[in-house]
Amino acid sequence: MSRDGFGSKIGIIAAAAGSAVGLGNIYRFPCELSGNGGGAFLLVYLLIVLCLGVPVMLSEFVIGRATQKNPIGAFRTLRPRSAWPILGYLGVICAFIIMAFYSTVAGWTLEYIVKAVGNQFHENGVAKDHETIVAEFKAFQQMGWKNVLWQGAFIFLTGFVVFKGVANGIEKYTKILMPLLVLILIVLGVYTLTLDKAGEGLAFLFKPDFSKITGSVLVSALGQAFFSLSMGMGVLITYGSYIKKDDNMVTTSLSVVLADTMVAVLAALVIFPAAYSFGELPPKPGTEVNGMSLIFSTLPMIFNQMEGVGYFLCIIFFVLLAVAALTSTISLLEVIVAYLVEELHLPRRWATVLASVGCMALGVFASLSLKEGSIFTIAGKSFFENLDFISAKVLLPVGALFIVIFVGWIMGKRWFNAELTNDGKLKLSIKGIVYFIIKFIAPLAIAVIFISGLLNP
Ligand code: PFF
Repeated sequence: MSRDGFGSKIGIIAAAAGSAVGLGNIYRFPCELSGNGGGAFLLVYLLIVLCLGVPVMLSEFVIGRATQKNPIGAFRTLRPRSAWPILGYLGVICAFIIMAFYSTVAGWTLEYIVKAVGNQFHENGVAKDHETIVAEFKAFQQMGWKNVLWQGAFIFLTGFVVFKGVANGIEKYTKILMPLLVLILIVLGVYTLTLDKAGEGLAFLFKPDFSKITGSVLVSALGQAFFSLSMGMGVLITYGSYIKKDDNMVTTSLSVVLADTMVAVLAALVIFPAAYSFGELPPKPGTEVNGMSLIFSTLPMIFNQMEGVGYFLCIIFFVLLAVAALTSTISLLEVIVAYLVEELHLPRRWATVLASVGCMALGVFASLSLKEGSIFTIAGKSFFENLDFISAKVLLPVGALFIVIFVGWIMGKRWFNAELTNDGKLKLSIKGIVYFIIKFIAPLAIAVIFISGLLNP
């Protein structure tokens, strides 16, 4: 059976960047920043992305393109009759887990599109204040089944696009809408810099307090980096399998890492100056920062301040946020579907239905667990938080660790160089350093950070 491929170079960049850029950048990144001390976290995060982002991404691309298979098939092709395909199964499981809680927040974006269109951040023509907007967000979270409905709608939407196939399904939507998202973030960023307490927000972001760096902050930054770049679970192996044999994977991965990081930093530059100006930060004495409500209350407030044009920008923003989330959920579902189609030989249609229903079945508990007093709580944390924790802070780092070990130590330099340079057709002077990082630095860094997190939670 011939496999779908990406129509053009921009196609694969758009698709991989589409997977990377999503709620992780605009929702999860500010959450993690606010909970982990701001500047110090940002610094560690940027360091990790800079040193590990491209090499780990390239490891996944190379495995995918060399084998033209889904993660399980890829490891089985490269190392038959070994335990390595387990890594592929881990990726499929991780895709399920991430999809289950990610789709909860993705569903919220749909609710907020409806709110934006209905001008619900205003009452009788007057902009609602910050407290009301926060209270309404919390009340919405308590509605339980409404969250589940939106979540279902979002998973259905994802299934629909995935069913239409890789090339025409994914490529088409991402190319135009992602740059638009960047543009709107820049406009918002410039605007929020003019707000009252923008300086305090910037100080929070750019004045690192090194005493805040603990093992758990390091793990959070590592997990956030992998989560944001969609690394460590086979999404990029799957996408790598669609990369053409004459593409330059180094420039592809550089573009994706750059785009992803730019969006995350831009989002922080929008959120924090605004959150300080509206009084959401610093947290009131005796309370914790509510990372979850950060973007869903701060952003409507920004649009409220803008009056007139704010109404339209608010709609456009939440639509773009939903699209960014969609291009990420597509990549998650694609991992599961590719496995069901290629390994279990299910027709694509049924594979998509099965994967979507499976994600929904787990996802319901994630959504319902956010209600106060919910029974879906484990170890004092909601089921949602547990899924987030186990995927970002455990499965992705472990997955990435074994992926770099596989490329660096099992497949080796000659194989890696041949694949990276398209059998010597590309002259890549950086291949030596990239391989060195994959073989020595990345495994060591990931292992040390992971262990320091275990020892110093
Ligand atoms: N990278 C996505 C984001 O930042 O929103 C989330 C994600 C997608 C994580 C795909 C992992 C993944 F495999």
